[in-house]
Amino acid sequence: MDVLLLIASGLWVMVPALVANPGAVIFGGGTPVDFNRKWKGERVLGDGKTWRGLIGGICFGVLIGCLQIAGETNYAYLLPGFIGFGPMPTALGAVFTLAIGSLLGDMCGAFIKRRFGMERGQKAPVLDQYDSIAGALLLTFLVFPDWTLRTFVLGDAWVSLLAVLVVTPLLHRSVNIIGYKVGLKKEPW
Ligand code: CTP
Ligand code: MG
Repeated sequence: MDVLLLIASGLWVMVPALVANPGAVIFGGGTPVDFNRKWKGERVLGDGKTWRGLIGGICFGVLIGCLQIAGETNYAYLLPGFIGFGPMPTALGAVFTLAIGSLLGDMCGAFIKRRFGMERGQKAPVLDQYDSIAGALLLTFLVFPDWTLRTFVLGDAWVSLLAVLVVTPLLHRSVNIIGYKVGLKKEPW
């Protein structure tokens, strides 16, 4: 397959995972996921992980993913060779695991940060950028191994994964700067 198609396809299928985080920022607030509980003197997750953010972010990622699947079904003929989410029902399942895994990964990142005594919002390079895509890919691989291998590993598909790994930190940074400027985020990272 064409390299540009592989890059586009990889980024396209990661969209539900990528938009889940800004979704959490938009809808977040209220009761923290850890209910203020502490573990060994530090918060389990901290105030940056809330139920509203978790549920809202997942719903937002799933909604966008459903629109993408509808788009694929109707406009696939415009890009011959583009695979994207592929056939239902796995396509829909993958949208769910990508969005859910993304925010689970984000919470694992927060859990790790708290264990190192880092405050909410404190910068953690690598972890901040990759926790959610790692969670999204891992959960999706566990539930839909064939889909994940076909989309990101086998044959030429590793190019799609590489594109995701290269573009995600750049996207993460730009979106956070925008979120900071419009007052949705407390820090520009
Ligand atoms: N958010 C939320 N619930 C989630 C994830 C995110 O409410 N499950 C909201 C919070 O308002 C959070 C903001 O989105 O402050 C930005 O998310 P993120 O940068 O991941 O959290 P941080 O505030 O940086 O906290 P941490 O250090 O724990 O990552
Ligand atoms: Mg942060």
